[in-house]
Amino acid sequence: MKCKTTLWDFDGQMERGTGAPLSRIQAMHRLLEGVYASAKDPIGGSWSLEQLTQVAERGESLCLWAQGELVSFILYHRLMDGLDIMVLATCVNHQGRGLMEALLNHLCQNLYPHSSVWLEVHSGNGPAQMLYEKLGFRRCGVRRRYYRDGGDAILYAY
Ligand SMILES: CC(C)(COP(=O)(O)OP(=O)(O)OC[C@H]1O[C@@H](n2cnc3c(N)ncnc32)[C@H](O)[C@@H]1OP(=O)(O)O)[C@@H](O)C(=O)NCCC(=O)NCCS
Repeated sequence: MKCKTTLWDFDGQMERGTGAPLSRIQAMHRLLEGVYASAKDPIGGSWSLEQLTQVAERGESLCLWAQGELVSFILYHRLMDGLDIMVLATCVNHQGRGLMEALLNHLCQNLYPHSSVWLEVHSGNGPAQMLYEKLGFRRCGVRRRYYRDGGDAILYAY
């Protein structure tokens, strides 16, 4: 049986940040590089350090760190009427422990309980879709051939 981590017994620190300090962006970039290198499912395009920096400059992030390493994060923009999640990932050797479920629940239920939350995901990314649907996100649209590999983007709202 899979042993699930909650934010309460996670052996590390949660950090909520704004803007784009270089060390945090570099840690996100490293994590994503590892995820892309091992992903079996299409994730929907890679992120350069420059792209991440631009997105983070006008965004907020929720990060989990353990022993100085970033293990899971959500990078999002606050809009007038809700949150737009730009990218999220858990590093490969911490996946399947419930970390992203805990982070998303914390974001949607504790930090922004009255906000809508939107995101998009590659139509071939089964694990991420399972995650969003488990948490109560609902499908609200499709962008045809949105990704560079020709894949559609499924839009979700919470
Ligand atoms: C998708 C992703 C963020 C999930 O992170 P995680 O911390 O491993 O997820 P959790 O352990 O919190 O999983 C929670 C739920 O998500 C779903 N899920 C997560 N990984 C899954 C997998 N490989 N297969 C099927 N369902 C999966 C399940 O419903 C799971 O609940 P369960 O364990 O009770 O079945 C992670 O696999 C990842 O970083 N993927 C690459 C990046 C990516 O695809 N990002 C999303 C698009 S930007």
